[in-house]
Amino acid sequence: MLPDPPDGLRHWRLADAPALSAAWADPTIRLWNPPPADADAPSWIMRCDERWSLRLSLDFVIDVDGEVAGEVGLRNFTDDPARAELGVWIAPDHRQDGLASRSVDSATDWAHDELDLAQVWCRTATGNEAAGALFRSIGWQRLGESDGRVIWAC
Ligand SMILES: CC(C)(COP(=O)(O)OP(=O)(O)OC[C@H]1O[C@@H](n2cnc3c(N)ncnc32)[C@H](O)[C@@H]1OP(=O)(O)O)[C@@H](O)C(=O)NCCC(=O)NCCS
Repeated sequence: MLPDPPDGLRHWRLADAPALSAAWADPTIRLWNPPPADADAPSWIMRCDERWSLRLSLDFVIDVDGEVAGEVGLRNFTDDPARAELGVWIAPDHRQDGLASRSVDSATDWAHDELDLAQVWCRTATGNEAAGALFRSIGWQRLGESDGRVIWAC
């Protein structure tokens, strides 16, 4: 069963499938946050519970006035130390409005408190200026670079 979501976030609903398909088709999201291979949006949404029950991933909708404005998700869960990798995307019409900052903060606080994670981390491509600005702006620690990716942690 999916846990209660962090403040300001909600779980995916089947009715979100068209919005998810549109996001997966957005060139910026495809470039920096490639959608899952061989998955259609309705099937992917229907398998959210299963992915969480297997501790594969946990994905939340960023909802603005009933519209899917983005997603923040956790994956690559590990124990000892308890960690997970965070990913985030914002739909084109909702960017540069502070939405990613607020949603990442909320998901990260929640992951520390509710999932008892010692660390949440993220990888951003060195060329992804918006993502670098985001994690700098919200005060994540820049751990270093590896294979063209910057590693951030909180
Ligand atoms: C990266 C992304 C999530 C940022 O979302 P957002 O809601 O626009 O970010 P915010 O509005 O919260 O902005 C956070 C900071 O980044 C800055 N920023 C956002 N977009 C920027 C851009 N294109 N260029 C430069 N700075 C940018 C903002 O000015 C803000 O900095 P400030 O607090 O110093 O003013 C969004 O551009 C996106 O979805 N990109 C495609 C997917 C992706 O790259 N995901 C990240 C990999 S996990």
